[in-house]
Amino acid sequence: MNPRPAPYPAELQALGTADAPFEEVLRAGDLPAGALRRVSRGDLDILLAHTAAGIVATDDRCPHMSAPLSIGELDGCVVTCPLHDGRFDLCSGDPVQMPTTGGLDPDGRYHPTWSTAGREPKVDQPGKKTEARRLTRVRRFRYYPVRIVNGRIEVALPQLPAATAISV
Ligand code: FES
Repeated sequence: MNPRPAPYPAELQALGTADAPFEEVLRAGDLPAGALRRVSRGDLDILLAHTAAGIVATDDRCPHMSAPLSIGELDGCVVTCPLHDGRFDLCSGDPVQMPTTGGLDPDGRYHPTWSTAGREPKVDQPGKKTEARRLTRVRRFRYYPVRIVNGRIEVALPQLPAATAISV
């Protein structure tokens, strides 16, 4: 079957991509079904994922603490982050399993720190580290539009603003 872009929720399209030009980033043959790849343009690291629903492009930064998802595991539409075992649905943008460190989900609900089944829940020591974990929000993905042209994957990338002259 020919590779195709996957649909994504319209409200999750990345800022600055509505009128952005498409740029070739990879040969479609280099992203077989189930593959994850990072492509970089300037300081933008993009995750290309060939999910069960098609190809998506999003930031190669975990919505939790920015680990590169391109070295995670993809199963259908769900990618597992290599750092705290958070699992995220690349087709809907939503977390499927909160990271082991707990924190806030995209809607602001608190999820406690993970503890082994059958054991007492972990008690966090009071302090800034605990507070930071508690307040860290796991956000939804933002998507870059994708198209396949002549066997090449093209992604709409936001244009960097022109350099601003600074006068002193
Ligand atoms: S950085 Fe990905 S789950 Fe924490």
